Amino acid sequence: MTGLFITLEGGDGSGKSTQASLLADWLRESGYTVERSREPGGTELGLELREIVLHRRGPIAPRAEALIYAADRAHNIATKVRPAVERGEIVIQDRYLDSSVAYQGAGRVLDPTEVRDISLWATEGFMPNLTILLDLDEAIGRKRLDQARSAYDRLEAEHGEFHARVRAGFLALAAADPERFLVLPATDSIESIAAAIRDRVTVLLG
Ligand code: TMP
Repeated sequence: MTGLFITLEGGDGSGKSTQASLLADWLRESGYTVERSREPGGTELGLELREIVLHRRGPIAPRAEALIYAADRAHNIATKVRPAVERGEIVIQDRYLDSSVAYQGAGRVLDPTEVRDISLWATEGFMPNLTILLDLDEAIGRKRLDQARSAYDRLEAEHGEFHARVRAGFLALAAADPERFLVLPATDSIESIAAAIRDRVTVLLG
């Protein structure tokens, strides 16, 4: 029996973690074994890489940044996610390779196909069964972050145009793969987003 790998994507401040927790609680109450992860930082090595890529003072070249995210991803999938899915568990994860295509591809303006290929190499082609995209206007995301944060990390600190490109990048990915993606407006209420996610996951569970 193989499990499921479900990822949540979206801009900063779109509510991914809240929805991941609600989904995990609901699945556990329904009797499933659920593992949570996130990128960057789902493993101990990942936490060290997260610190570098989000908080290092001084520049990181765009290709180096892409490779750090890919290294975190390789380790997370090999040591945590793939083994859990092979045990039949449901893994719910904040962010995956779509974030690299959107942030390093559309945001940093690296070739999106190359960025994706690096992650596919890193993970031996491991793909989610479902990806939930919480779509949010970047100006609203910024306002939400302003209320929640005292300081921005390296990516959050990027200008509005960068985040607009990231949003467009996510929407293009979803349009190209409607089977895998569920796109929901992040401005809907927490409960109605959670209900839409539960409906889709119910279909996935058969
Ligand atoms: P978060 O864990 O708070 O969402 O922060 C992670 C940040 O890293 C967020 O701004 C998005 C960014 N990111 C990338 O640029 N590329 C990636 O591949 C991933 C996973 C995240």
